[in-house]
Amino acid sequence: MKPKIITIDGPAGAGKTTVSKLLSKKLQCVYVDTGALYRGVAFEIQRQNINWKNDTELEDFLKALDLNFVMEKDAFILMSSGRNITDFIRTPEISMLASSSSARPQVRSALLDIQRNIAKTKNAIFEGRDMGTVVFPDAAVKFFLFADLTIRATRRFDEMPDETKDIHKVQKEIQIRDHNDSQRRSAPLKSAKDAIEINASFLTIEQVVDKMLKIIEKA
Ligand code: DC
Repeated sequence: MKPKIITIDGPAGAGKTTVSKLLSKKLQCVYVDTGALYRGVAFEIQRQNINWKNDTELEDFLKALDLNFVMEKDAFILMSSGRNITDFIRTPEISMLASSSSARPQVRSALLDIQRNIAKTKNAIFEGRDMGTVVFPDAAVKFFLFADLTIRATRRFDEMPDETKDIHKVQKEIQIRDHNDSQRRSAPLKSAKDAIEINASFLTIEQVVDKMLKIIEKA
């Protein structure tokens, strides 16, 4: 039987990762955070000092890139050339660089197979920006999760351990990423025509997950 794929797209800070994790436990399937792949690309661009706006340099870099997910316990960790880089990809700099470099079509096509190969063998929840629109247009159930900008910024701010954090900066960065991610030509962030939209502004994570479970059960 073909594995069952559920997609969750939406802007930064809407709660996609937390929701996907919880949902995957309830459904006993894996969840795949595809943003981690774009962050992995950004991490390597930064580490190798790549001029990603230059086509030739970007294409050579992508040819040599060896990025993949490895299953550890019940979660995926991100490996780059055999090194676990999972702990290095969550900085604000990497978030911004992932958002801008992911607009390059060469980057997007380099990551397509990694995502689709996982879906060949496992029931999975994929979260990202273009899961329901481009990567898995035939997914069994598609969600688009969103929330007000100020609420998303406050949630991100509250999660940050750094004492020097600044709510205005967090909000501005999310706003820039929203713009980059939704205005790019290649696979922009948008709700698939057949996606179920959920406004998470005034819902708890549990309420979002419950809503999704009811919809999945009926599908
Ligand atoms: O989900 P995230 O915040 O970790 O993603 C980081 C960036 O990666 C995001 O701003 C845009 C890009 N991204 C993408 O273009 N397509 C995806 N499917 C996932 C993430």
